[in-house]
Amino acid sequence: MKIGIILGSTREGRVSPQVGEYIKQIGDKREDASFEIVDIADYNLPFLGTGPANQAWNDKINELDGYVFIVQEYNHGLSAALKNAIDSARQEWFNKAAGIVSYGSGGGIRAAEQVRTIMAEQSVATVRTHPAFNLFTDFENMSVFKPGAHMEKGVEDMLDELMLWSKAFKTIRP
Ligand SMILES: Cc1cc2nc3c(=O)[nH]c(=O)nc-3n(C[C@H](O)[C@H](O)[C@H](O)COP(=O)(O)O)c2cc1C
Repeated sequence: MKIGIILGSTREGRVSPQVGEYIKQIGDKREDASFEIVDIADYNLPFLGTGPANQAWNDKINELDGYVFIVQEYNHGLSAALKNAIDSARQEWFNKAAGIVSYGSGGGIRAAEQVRTIMAEQSVATVRTHPAFNLFTDFENMSVFKPGAHMEKGVEDMLDELMLWSKAFKTIRP
């Protein structure tokens, strides 16, 4: 299984690369999947409708068997960059599974639940277990990611669920 860890934020000073790398380190211990960081910022996606569709983005989403979304909360919602990236592909997402990892002052729960709803419309099934990190307790100075050791189990559970569904969905894709 090829799993993409999608960084949802693009702003200067963002913490999503640290969170994504932490998930990748846990994923890399597995033998049933390979994990790669997929950074939206690398694709310079146009705002939907303002330029040609980004073929490289569509190809990347297409080649992956499953996803882990790194979701941060902006004004009680997901980032505009992540929403635009999700909207910028269509059938490339279909019939796949995803896990959600979020963070914010309240764990990024509101943004994460929005991603769940949005992905339902892209025919992506999001797994139940959802590791949520708190900006005040899992980050030093809200900028250096220092999750408690107890959080690792939740990430492993989320990846177990993601692998089960990713393998199942692979059997029904053309
Ligand atoms: C424009 C903006 C709005 C934000 N709104 C919220 C919010 O509603 N709830 C929350 O928990 N955190 C909020 N935050 C804090 C972010 O979750 C925090 O800065 C986080 O590190 C953002 O992710 P990033 O560093 O990967 O960009 C906001 C941050 C920004 C920049």
